[in-house]
Amino acid sequence: MENSRYNLSSGQVMIILGIESSCDDTSVAVLKDGQILSIAVNTQLEHIEFGGVIPEIASRAHLKNFPAVLDKALTDAGIGLNEVDAVGVTYGPGLVGPLLVGVNFAKGLAFSHSLPVVPVNHIEAHIFANFIDNPEIKYPFIVLVVSGGHTELIYVPDIGKYELIGKTRDDAAGECIDKVSKMLGLGFPGGKVLDELAKKGNKDFETFPRGMHNSLDFSFSGLKTSLKYYIEKHDDEFIKKNIENIAASFLESVTDSLITKLFKAVKKYKTDTVLLAGGVSANSILRNKLAEMSKKKGVKYYFPQPKYCTDNGAMVAITAYKKIMSGDISEYKFDSALDAVPFLNLSKQID
Ligand code: KG4
Ligand code: ZN
Repeated sequence: MENSRYNLSSGQVMIILGIESSCDDTSVAVLKDGQILSIAVNTQLEHIEFGGVIPEIASRAHLKNFPAVLDKALTDAGIGLNEVDAVGVTYGPGLVGPLLVGVNFAKGLAFSHSLPVVPVNHIEAHIFANFIDNPEIKYPFIVLVVSGGHTELIYVPDIGKYELIGKTRDDAAGECIDKVSKMLGLGFPGGKVLDELAKKGNKDFETFPRGMHNSLDFSFSGLKTSLKYYIEKHDDEFIKKNIENIAASFLESVTDSLITKLFKAVKKYKTDTVLLAGGVSANSILRNKLAEMSKKKGVKYYFPQPKYCTDNGAMVAITAYKKIMSGDISEYKFDSALDAVPFLNLSKQID
């Protein structure tokens, strides 16, 4: 299994493939020396009719989609597989079947081309997506991770060190958004649709509840229930007529909770840098609120481009790159025992 690529040292040109399949996005990206050359994503439409991701269908779709997605990423980047130096792959947390497909696809590529495999934590990848366009970000910082499965406040004193300082006690923000979208008849997933509607609505049309006032933890199930009763109380015509205002008022409640807790944490931990990460960080209201509050408080703020917020291979590739650069590539020699870890924690956590 010896190959000159295992002897890469920092300073050399390095091409990395990033492979992501932890949920319903099949994605491959190509990164050359810290710069994204291409990103291919197939967001599975198979789940729309069910109003949620069906793991078995997702696994089969990843299996079907990976060859074409890889091909597109390589073609768009103008490189061949023989030029790749390492493969980064998401191995957890996520849905076990979809993760297994990605991990084994990565292992197959690595084995056949004598390449090292860098196992990547999905949440760490969401956080590192911020560094794609902002390599200047300095530690320590606080990151708000908001996705379909996670809502967490994390203090990051240094590379690879994570202290969980707040989390949801029930639903993740994205989960709440998707369920409310379904209740409003807007389909799945609902984040982007609600975002577009809310831009045209009045956020003060209704006041929906905010959970967990006195803590750094979050709660979104009360908000979800409140929307359920609100929708039941009003007829279809009213909901349809006021859909933009309802979307704006609902997202105002979600983003107000998120930003209030984030800045509570900034005060407590005396940090001057904040980041957003995860699919919900593509939300325009959340981004505007973060910018406004950060300027007011004199805090530096970052969020990834929308295409790097939702699940994608680019965030996996940049994380693999950072890991290789901060260590020794030989650490990542091909390991046939590498497996999916559906309930993976962030590595080297500080308790
Ligand atoms: O990070 P992600 O792609 O997958 C997980 O790891 O969960 O996040 C998906 C979530 C979904 O709940 C989706 O509705 C939400 O991100 N999302 C948004 C927006 N775009 C995606 N939520 C609010 N506004 C958006 N623009
Ligand atoms: Zn994700």
